[in-house]
Amino acid sequence: MSTTDAETERVDVPAAEEAWRGVAAEDVEELDHATGVKLQTRSRRLLGSLLRPRLRPVLLALLIVVLENVVTLAGPLLIAAAIDTGVPAALDGRPQALAWLVGGYAASTLVATGMRYAFVRLIGRIGQDLLQDLRNRVFRHSQRLSVAFHESYTSGKVISRLTSDVDALQDLLEMGLDGFFTAMLSIVGITAVLLWLDLPLALVALAGFVPMVLLVRWFRRRSARVYRGTRGAIAKIIVQFVETMNGIRAVQAFRREARNEKIMGELNGRFRDANTDALTVMATFTALARVIGNVSLAVVIAIGAVRVAGGGLELGVLAAFTLYLRRFYDPFDEIAMFTNSYTAATAALEKISGLLEEEPSVPEPQEPKPLPHARGDVRFDGVEFRYSERTPVVLPSFDLHVPAGQTVALVGATGAGKTTLAKLVARFYDPSAGAVLLDGVDLRSLSDTDLRRAVVMVTQENFLFSGSLADNVALGRPGASRADVEQAVASVGAHEFVTALPEGYDTDVRKRGGRLSAGQRQMVAFARAFLADPAVLVLDEATSSLDVPTERDVQAALKTVLADRTALIIAHRLSTVLIADRVLVVDGGRVVEDGTPEELIGDGGRFAALHTAWLDSLA
Ligand SMILES: Nc1ncnc2c1ncn2[C@@H]1O[C@H](COP(=O)(O)OP(=O)(O)O)[C@@H](O)[C@H]1O
Ligand SMILES: [Mg+2]
Repeated sequence: MSTTDAETERVDVPAAEEAWRGVAAEDVEELDHATGVKLQTRSRRLLGSLLRPRLRPVLLALLIVVLENVVTLAGPLLIAAAIDTGVPAALDGRPQALAWLVGGYAASTLVATGMRYAFVRLIGRIGQDLLQDLRNRVFRHSQRLSVAFHESYTSGKVISRLTSDVDALQDLLEMGLDGFFTAMLSIVGITAVLLWLDLPLALVALAGFVPMVLLVRWFRRRSARVYRGTRGAIAKIIVQFVETMNGIRAVQAFRREARNEKIMGELNGRFRDANTDALTVMATFTALARVIGNVSLAVVIAIGAVRVAGGGLELGVLAAFTLYLRRFYDPFDEIAMFTNSYTAATAALEKISGLLEEEPSVPEPQEPKPLPHARGDVRFDGVEFRYSERTPVVLPSFDLHVPAGQTVALVGATGAGKTTLAKLVARFYDPSAGAVLLDGVDLRSLSDTDLRRAVVMVTQENFLFSGSLADNVALGRPGASRADVEQAVASVGAHEFVTALPEGYDTDVRKRGGRLSAGQRQMVAFARAFLADPAVLVLDEATSSLDVPTERDVQAALKTVLADRTALIIAHRLSTVLIADRVLVVDGGRVVEDGTPEELIGDGGRFAALHTAWLDSLA
């Protein structure tokens, strides 16, 4: 894999330290107002687009939970009435009222339970639908984003969007939101009922509300910071894990295990510390909240009892107060919990919406110019290219015309810009200025379908998907028959190696026994490209994994593959270069020599020197 080296480079103690600080800063840093507002609108837009199609069930769920709370609220009132009027009447020999009240209480509990069941199921289904939708969108969008995006945004980051960030939303939907709604409704409802029942006692009972609000505010501020720390830490752990595993060969070859373990241990330790801090804050909050609730209750009972003894308050009302007070102070826990999951979910939403609003850097045109049968005439017209604003210019000003059917070999030192030229022809990137044209049409005006049919690039990566070998070749042309596949494999000279595999064409290339060598994978990639039959074929060091005898076979096959199409070949082996009609020597993003192999050898320039060196190495 071409990314392996870069990724192992990053697995470095100071680098990880740096990265850690980056994440921590990104997460904890107070955002300036404008950025904060931008993130909020972005998150809100995403949330809106997720909720809009589910508006009806969401409103229904809200209605159910409000009704449930109203019904639940009636419970203590029924008990108060039972104590104050039901019981005395029953003692007088008229038990009907008491029976009705008790029956009513039982019924209200039953109805509330039924509503809770309906609510939990409904909200659960809405939540799961929404998460499914979100996961699909993240996947679809990440897959659609251009190569340029994936070269800078690591797969670890994409994975943590799809896992820990979606999980944060799931936590909010499954626990936080429901608890928060119920808590708010019961706090408001109970306040109203208490004020109506007995104003003076209500004022005493609700006095604890003030310190409670202060406590919640303290908690919010503390836990927001601590919690962001935990989210940042887990994201960092995922990134570290994925990078290590992606680069596992280099990790083991260069014995980076101990260092990686140290970095992981460090990150993991910080995750634990961040979580411990979060728990401490939570514990402090819970303890203080209990104290406030219980002190309020004790004061209410003391004052209430004195008033009941003096005949100024009915016993049932005092009983209702004690029942309500528990339900008034307990939900603050839920509100605090909600704060945590809310903070985590907003941070997650910010990151996910950021990914989802990332535009492909090589967008498909709105109204593409049709080019169903490209001839393969390629032109670079005043192309200037740099990978990003921050990196130097790779191609200062590049002009080149390759007539249809020509085989062009690109030679030059590492870093000369050969791969960059190949990526521009395949439109993995767009030029910063100028244009790359196919049959006179700017690549930016072509539909993805026409472009991918016309231009195929084979690199040394040669990725195989899970599935049979035949499936992997057939990728080149959807709908290709088995005969087409076999013919393509034979044309690139790979038939023998395929039939020697345990299950031939049906061998599963990911399973043990079907694992292919780098050279074999390259042959599969050639067959795939041959089957695709593009007008323009780009080979970027595509024969570098082949051993000399195999390469010689491929050399012969290559002639078949390259016939009747335009080809750009980047190769280190002069044997491959010599089959070209034309050789371009590239240096610093410019063509410094251009001619047939014979001409260039005769000219005694760089290519001639390279050729001599090659002959010497064979001698
Ligand atoms: N993704 C990238 N981002 C920034 N710079 C890049 C990227 N890929 C290549 N470069 C730079 O572009 C220059 C040309 O690279 P490349 O085209 O890969 O050279 P070659 O294939 O000839 O070895 C190099 O200086 C390299 O550092
Ligand atoms: Mg290269």
